[in-house]
Amino acid sequence: MDKKFRFSNTHTDFQARDAKVVFGWRYSPRIIFKAAKGTKLIDMDNNEYYDLTSGMMCMVLGHSHPELTEVMREMAGTFLHQSSWYSNPWAVEFAERLGENTPGDLKVVNFAVTGSEANEIAMRMALAATGKYDIVSMIRGLHGGSLAVEALTSVGGNRRKNLGPLMFPAKANALLPPYCYRCPVNNTYPGCDIACLKSSEEMLEFVTSQNIAGIMAETIPVPGGMIVPPKEWLPRLAALAKRWGALLILDECQLAPARTGKMWAMEHYGVTPDIVTWGKGLSAGLAVCGTITTPQIAEQVRGDAGLLWAGTYSSDPLAAAVALKQLDIVLRDKLDERAEQLGAIAEAELLALKSKYSCIGDVRGKGLYRMLDIVKDPGSKIPDPIMAERIRYNCALEGVIGISVKHYFRFAPPLIVTEAEIKDIVGRLDIAIKRAMDGFPRDVDVRESSSLSIGDRPIAAE
Ligand SMILES: Cc1ncc(COP(=O)(O)O)c(C=O)c1O
Repeated sequence: MDKKFRFSNTHTDFQARDAKVVFGWRYSPRIIFKAAKGTKLIDMDNNEYYDLTSGMMCMVLGHSHPELTEVMREMAGTFLHQSSWYSNPWAVEFAERLGENTPGDLKVVNFAVTGSEANEIAMRMALAATGKYDIVSMIRGLHGGSLAVEALTSVGGNRRKNLGPLMFPAKANALLPPYCYRCPVNNTYPGCDIACLKSSEEMLEFVTSQNIAGIMAETIPVPGGMIVPPKEWLPRLAALAKRWGALLILDECQLAPARTGKMWAMEHYGVTPDIVTWGKGLSAGLAVCGTITTPQIAEQVRGDAGLLWAGTYSSDPLAAAVALKQLDIVLRDKLDERAEQLGAIAEAELLALKSKYSCIGDVRGKGLYRMLDIVKDPGSKIPDPIMAERIRYNCALEGVIGISVKHYFRFAPPLIVTEAEIKDIVGRLDIAIKRAMDGFPRDVDVRESSSLSIGDRPIAAE
């Protein structure tokens, strides 16, 4: 049952020009979008598609939200950029509002422009606060692509291929993931008593110099497989960090605000870290990211390890004003509650697909962030990245733009999505999975689809 994309000459021409001059990840076919509104993207031929990943998980309020557009218009004519050596009211208020809505004594913001930079700032803070050196991270964690955080990232694919000694301190990926679906220590929850963490502590002794400044982890590791930890894991990780005299750094770039059903995912576990890093969803799609720490740690690290930290675009007025407005809307409209309620509906719909299709091994996630684990068969749980890519391709044919990374297919619509839209999206996903399981399209090429793509070769159908 073949179905084809049909692109106009203008669209095809842009696709060819993009391939020639832009060195960027691209799924096949290279759909070129010209606009976006609400939950939808619009391509050069005016075809509409649901945006199932909220851009790069940034567009919490969907695209072209009227209240944000208004702020952008106003700020464009008022104040766009300034020297990072001065401040502006929007940055101050945004930092205040973040602090007011973050657990514990996390009140002081260091702005950055990417999640990677935020995590590097957190690394500097850990070194400065403890006087130690090792930063320990988790296998299957992702913390960004600049080289220091790439060393803490371990999600496979081609990301670290041939980077060699630039990957310092790579050997510090010492924590085993609490990945119950494919348990790294071949045990079963809850009888395991979180054996993965016990083994991880042993690893710390074996592979670090036992001089641990910080332990960095995503609260729910997303790119590594939407690993929702059992409830005991994070409190025990916090206790482990304390035992080793290390700061606990939680990376919530993928998770905050509200997406998992709480403002911060850490609130599901009752754990407050020493530093939390944020980006994507809190950025509203602009270059505003950062760290939040306690006043005490901020004072302690001032003047050390290059801190405080600011680059060219840190806390720019337009970006700060838009992010502030977005956060106020998230709070005003209680989007955490909405994500929880609609997330339960999405989960039920996706579980119904799981019972229908043997290629869905597991459905994991929280709130409006879910992931399908695509497998050869549920018994073996052998990952099937080819099938995941086929599903993504067929979704695009059905008017749903999603991402499949390795064998994980993400479900992360803007938090303004409605129940009817969720059902419509899942209906289209159903058609896409059926066609994928029928073997369409035959040949799949994911070489340029993301930093996590596997291997150098096109993956042909077996
Ligand atoms: C959990 C996590 N942390 C950090 C980053 C890096 O963010 P950025 O791409 O803005 O540098 C990412 C990016 O995907 C991420 O998923």
